[in-house]
Amino acid sequence: MIIAPSVLSFDFPLFEEEMPLLNKHADWLHFDVMDGHFVPNLSFGPAILKAFRQNTSLFLDVHLMVEDPGYFTEVFAKNGADGITFHYEVFNDIEGCKKMIEKIRSYYLKVGISVKPGTDVTVLEPLLKDVDLVLIMSVEPGFGGQAFMPESVDKIKWLDEYRKENGLNYLIEVDGGINDETAHSVLEAGVDVLVAGSYVFKGEIEENIAKLRKIK
Ligand code: DX5
Ligand code: ZN
Repeated sequence: MIIAPSVLSFDFPLFEEEMPLLNKHADWLHFDVMDGHFVPNLSFGPAILKAFRQNTSLFLDVHLMVEDPGYFTEVFAKNGADGITFHYEVFNDIEGCKKMIEKIRSYYLKVGISVKPGTDVTVLEPLLKDVDLVLIMSVEPGFGGQAFMPESVDKIKWLDEYRKENGLNYLIEVDGGINDETAHSVLEAGVDVLVAGSYVFKGEIEENIAKLRKIK
């Protein structure tokens, strides 16, 4: 299990205190980039990613919730991203997604593709051999602290079965409403990467991450 705390819930005034805890206990850091268009919220730009890069060697998992992921791939690649995940819904078309995958690869980054709760996961089938990671959104993207949508479990099961049947090894990641109760069902369904924002940062980071690790 890979645990990726979502920096969206990070307590920035506590950076000096909390960063060493993340470095010690987390596996990845999940970094939500929002442009106020693709989702109705704004989050961080490249300067913030760079500040994390200067303080961690953890894998920086950048989730682009933006209308122009091509442009922002270059921006975040140059500022320390290890992997870039974009949304299928930006293109709603396989050829557009293929070009985007090539663009991310041209920066030698890991490639992820994501679907929102309303998108059928099977639309990704022609792309699955070309990606390193599939991110299932288990809340409507835009805000932390929302309730987990149980419909996501079937999408994870489908992705897990598909990779087994086809000899593929993309990682399956889930994002939204993950806590020590909801994590059970997604782990059972085959998820590899748990993104958790409000759950990890509310209270003690070390204890919360340890509780997630104990599941399954
Ligand atoms: C939502 C973001 C998530 C968010 C998850 O658009 O993609 O990464 O931080 O937050 P929690 O874990 O609080 O649901
Ligand atoms: Zn995210």
